[in-house]
Amino acid sequence: MPQSDLFSASRQYSSLEDVLNAIRGMKDDPLVNAGTNVVISRGNPNAKLLIIGEAPGTQENIQGKPFVGPAGQLLDKILQAANFDPEKDVYITNSVFRMPPGDDGKAFRKPTDQEVEYYRPFVFEIIRLIDPRVILLTGNVACQSVLKKTGITTLRGQWTQIEGRWLMPIFHPSYLLRNPSREPHSPKALMWDDIREVRRKYEALTISTSPLP
Ligand code: URA
Repeated sequence: MPQSDLFSASRQYSSLEDVLNAIRGMKDDPLVNAGTNVVISRGNPNAKLLIIGEAPGTQENIQGKPFVGPAGQLLDKILQAANFDPEKDVYITNSVFRMPPGDDGKAFRKPTDQEVEYYRPFVFEIIRLIDPRVILLTGNVACQSVLKKTGITTLRGQWTQIEGRWLMPIFHPSYLLRNPSREPHSPKALMWDDIREVRRKYEALTISTSPLP
């Protein structure tokens, strides 16, 4: 597929509100009977930094907003450590918009390939309508949704440029919660390297788009 076609969805919406309403009104999606809330996004729709996660968990399902449970609290701390305000500088969404039902006694499970594929066109429409300069893909499911590939340990920290946007896979904050070591080369240490690089790119892009004096 040519890279310029990567974000083209078969159905295009004329505004962010239209796509959000379409997602809220979905009746034929594979997770229609899952969760109790449709969980789409939070943050500033004018932000130049978009973060895409996996799927809502228990807290997100209750509150109707992505990344508000323990992983979200860690994500906010990581953003703040790199001088991003999670409410003003960032828009946050997910790869699927309802909490996948749990199995093996767990509260929720990872989304299936079929679920990721179903919601992908809506994710692409959110990308098109938010029009971010930088996109962070947290974990393998977000990489599968947007880049159509996985392998987070090799993909993380690498920039890909698509249609004028800079995309970087980063570890999912839940993975960091399970791996709390801060030793050199630990997931947390690598995340710190990655978010500093994101800050550097964000500032370089902001500078390069400033009007000439
Ligand atoms: N993990 C995600 O990927 N998204 C959420 O909204 C919450 C946890």
